Amino acid sequence: MNAREIRPGVLALGAQDFDRRLFDELIPLPDGTSYNAYLVSGSEKTALIDAVDPEKIHVLQAQLRDVEKVDYMIVQHVEQDHSGSVPWVLERYPNVQILTSAKAKPMLVDHLHIDPERITTVADGETISLGDKTLEFLYAPWVHWPETMLTYLREEKIMFTCDFFGSHIASTELFVTDKERVYEAAKRYYAEIMMPFKTMISKHLKRLEDYEISMIAPSHGQVYDEPEFIIDAYRHWVLDEPRNLVLLPYVSMHGSTQVMVDHLITALVDRGIEVAPFNLTVTDLGKLAEALVEAKTVVFGTPTVLVGPHPSVVSAAYLIAALRPKLKYAGVIGSYGWGGKAPETIKSLTAALKLEWLDPVMVKGLPREEDLLRVSELAEELARMMKGE
Ligand code: FEO
Repeated sequence: MNAREIRPGVLALGAQDFDRRLFDELIPLPDGTSYNAYLVSGSEKTALIDAVDPEKIHVLQAQLRDVEKVDYMIVQHVEQDHSGSVPWVLERYPNVQILTSAKAKPMLVDHLHIDPERITTVADGETISLGDKTLEFLYAPWVHWPETMLTYLREEKIMFTCDFFGSHIASTELFVTDKERVYEAAKRYYAEIMMPFKTMISKHLKRLEDYEISMIAPSHGQVYDEPEFIIDAYRHWVLDEPRNLVLLPYVSMHGSTQVMVDHLITALVDRGIEVAPFNLTVTDLGKLAEALVEAKTVVFGTPTVLVGPHPSVVSAAYLIAALRPKLKYAGVIGSYGWGGKAPETIKSLTAALKLEWLDPVMVKGLPREEDLLRVSELAEELARMMKGE
C-alpha cells in the first residue's frame, strides 16, 4: 500500500503481512500482522519512526522512493520486525542519523552490525525539533525489551508506541474501525508479549497520564484515533483483579483424564464458575495466553508419561509461568497406570507464580465413582475459595 496521511505532515508507512502465521517461531498469528513505520515531516527536518521486517522491505522501499531526504531514523525498539530494514535506510540516506535510547545503541550494533558512528543516543525526556514539529522521547523499558522508547509528537499530540498497545492484525483499514476485533487481538498481543512485564507497564500507563494524547500510533496493527479505547483496555488487563474463571489446560491419552476434565467442568459450572478448557493437542496458544489475562485459577489435567506429566502439559506449565499472569489458585487432576509424580513436576515448573495449591486428584486407571466424588470436592473447594467464602 502507499503511504497514507494520518495528520498533516505525518504519514503512515509500513507493510501489511496478511500471510504470516507465526511470530518468533512461537506465537500464532491468525490475523497476520503489520509492521508500521511513520514519516514525520517538519518545516526543516524529516524523521522516520521505525522501519519494517526485512521480509517486507520492498514495501518500504517503494514508499520512500520519492522521499529525497530523511534526517533522522528513530529506532524505538531493536527487535528486527521493526529495525531489520534500518541498514537499508542508512544506505538509502547516507546522511541520516539514527536516534535511539542508550540501551538500544549497543543492541543495534550487535543485532544488525550497524556502525556506531551513525547512532546518536537520546535521553529520556529529550526533544528534537523538526522545525515546526517537536518530537519528545520517553524511555519505556520492558515493553517488552529493555531498550524500548516511545515518541511523542507534541504539536499533533500523537504518541508513537512501537509494540506498546499493538495488535497482530493485517488490515487495509488505517484506523481502528472494528473495536471488538481489535480489542480481542490487542488483548491476545498483551498476553503474549506484555503481561510478564505488567508492573513496568502499569508505571508507563501512569506516566502517560501526563500527556495529552489524541492518537496512538503503534508499530503493529491499526492506529487508534480514539486512544482512550486501548488505554482503558490496558488499565483493565494490568490493574484489575482476576475474575472467577478457571483455566483448564489438559491432555488425555486414553480417555481417563478426559472423564475427569468433563466432570470438573460440570461441577464448576454447577457452582457458578466459568471454565475455559484447552485441549493442548489442538489449542491455539494465543487463545490460552489471552484467557490467562483474567483467570483466577488454573487446573492442569494430565495423564502420566514416563513418571511425569504429558510433555504438552509440561510445555503449557512452562509457558504459563513465563507469562506471569495474575493467577491465585491451582490444582492438578489426572491419571496414571502404575505410579508417577506429575503434580510435583507441574508445581515445580510454576513455582515462580507462588500459587495456592489444592490437593491433586490423581487416579489409577479409569476413574470410578469415588474418584469423581474427589473431583467434585475439588470443584467445591475451588468455588468456595474463588468466591471468597
Ligand atoms: Fe514488534 Fe518486539 O517487536
